[in-house]
Amino acid sequence: MFAIALDGPAGAGKSTIARKVAEHYGILYLDTGAMYRAMGWKAISIGIAPQNDHAVESMLCNTRLDVRFQNGEQRVFVDDKDVSDLIRTPEMSKAASDISALTCVRKHLVELQRQLAASRPLVIDGRDIGTYVLPDAPWKFFLTATAEERAQRRLLQLRSKGDDKTTLEEVVVDINYRDKQDSSREVAPLRQADDAILLDTTHLSIDQVITAIIREIGMLPQEVQAIADSTANSKSDVSGGDV
Ligand code: DC
Repeated sequence: MFAIALDGPAGAGKSTIARKVAEHYGILYLDTGAMYRAMGWKAISIGIAPQNDHAVESMLCNTRLDVRFQNGEQRVFVDDKDVSDLIRTPEMSKAASDISALTCVRKHLVELQRQLAASRPLVIDGRDIGTYVLPDAPWKFFLTATAEERAQRRLLQLRSKGDDKTTLEEVVVDINYRDKQDSSREVAPLRQADDAILLDTTHLSIDQVITAIIREIGMLPQEVQAIADSTANSKSDVSGGDV
């Protein structure tokens, strides 16, 4: 398995860094948070509280989640609807955090994540990748930053996507809520793996973080591509989508 695992709290820069590291090596980036967001979206859209264990469990039996890579970019489909852009609101952040605390949801999604990682080299980000999803990942990084810095970054990200309504105070409330919930839940909580490298990104630029990660991995893109090519034969898409 060739996987670069990036874990850390909300707003630590994981998705930006993961995308660029994946681009550098010419491999795919799997955003596992999007999968929890998609499940949160489905619950909200059919009027189920994301904390309602029983209702969510029966929802799972009637839900098809597909992760597809189109032109190298991940898209997430729920029952064949592309929800990738609908899951990026503060409401969906909270729903994702709530639903991700349920054992039935984690089992379902972790299984899918492991299948995806077994079939192709990936940069994969989340909360529990290094500790639970892929404990044998050869490279593990834990990205963090102060809560203030993470809130500022999240706000900028929302603004860049056209959201001019959400305030800094709302983002701070969201970050604090998720920090607490994601790290205190019983199943696979947010935690740095013992063998993960800690990167505090508070005072680092994106490029500095990427340079640190690439230096640590110590492989050339061609070497990574050779691994990608050797696993290409088993590249059937477990979720039924396009790769
Ligand atoms: O990375 P994100 O902000 O898109 O994640 C949304 C929520 O999903 C996050 O608050 C916790 C949950 N999550 C998780 O529990 N495990 C993961 N591997 C990824 C996300």
